[in-house]
Amino acid sequence: MDERPIGIFDSGLGGLSALRALERLLPGENLIYFGDSANAPYGTRSLEQLRTLARNNAAFLEGEGVKAILVACGTVSSNAMDLLRSSLSLPVFDVLTAPCLRTAEATGNGTAAVIATEATIRSGAFQKALGEAGGPGLRVFAKPCQSLVSVVEAGHFHRGDAAAEGAVAEELAPVRDLAPDTLLLACTHFPLLEDVIAAYLGPRTRLLSVSELAAEALKETLSQKNLLREGGEGASRFYTSGDPERFAEAAAQLLGRPVRARRRVLTELEP
Ligand code: DGL
Repeated sequence: MDERPIGIFDSGLGGLSALRALERLLPGENLIYFGDSANAPYGTRSLEQLRTLARNNAAFLEGEGVKAILVACGTVSSNAMDLLRSSLSLPVFDVLTAPCLRTAEATGNGTAAVIATEATIRSGAFQKALGEAGGPGLRVFAKPCQSLVSVVEAGHFHRGDAAAEGAVAEELAPVRDLAPDTLLLACTHFPLLEDVIAAYLGPRTRLLSVSELAAEALKETLSQKNLLREGGEGASRFYTSGDPERFAEAAAQLLGRPVRARRRVLTELEP
């Protein structure tokens, strides 16, 4: 039993898909979320910048007294986990390892597609993890879909929203042609577009969310280590480096309840 909160960070709104999953799976936990909207998008940043951002975000959460950190960002999970794991003494979870194992299991000897940011696909980390988990029978197709991050950040995530539907159709046309058995949404912004993506691809392709799969893995590990908080109802606290009102409004829409956010600027990088 451990009363301390769990820390979560992302470049902006995307990690809320992981927070939402954690709130559902672990209703007794207190959560602290940092969305680095001032430095978003992360997917077009250099490796060096990503590592600086990752280090600063994790240090902030560590300073808030968290017991574990969920890196709710596919881009940081593919480019900076070695750095985070070697510099922090608490458990740090990514959105890559467990989700790739589950995707390989779910796909068997079929075709798995993975969509993510430019920096994630460039790193090759998801392709490698899926290849290792699935063996030679699994075919892997990877595609960057960076524009979907901006679409979500601009508040377009519902079916019937022309900007969301147009961007999904443009980015995912090659995935629809391929008709893979599974599609791993390997950027945490993308599960927020899940309904739009599912409607575009149709029922042949099963969608898997890194946010959901990573939240399940985190629950399993913290439970094995006896680190869960039991009893009572947890609460979530939100910080953003962007405009707190805009962040709170979008988060409230995504979580279906009022949200209050505070401003914290941890890193000031050129856009
Ligand atoms: N949501 C993040 C990810 O999972 C970052 C997206 C971005 O800021 O480009 O990769």
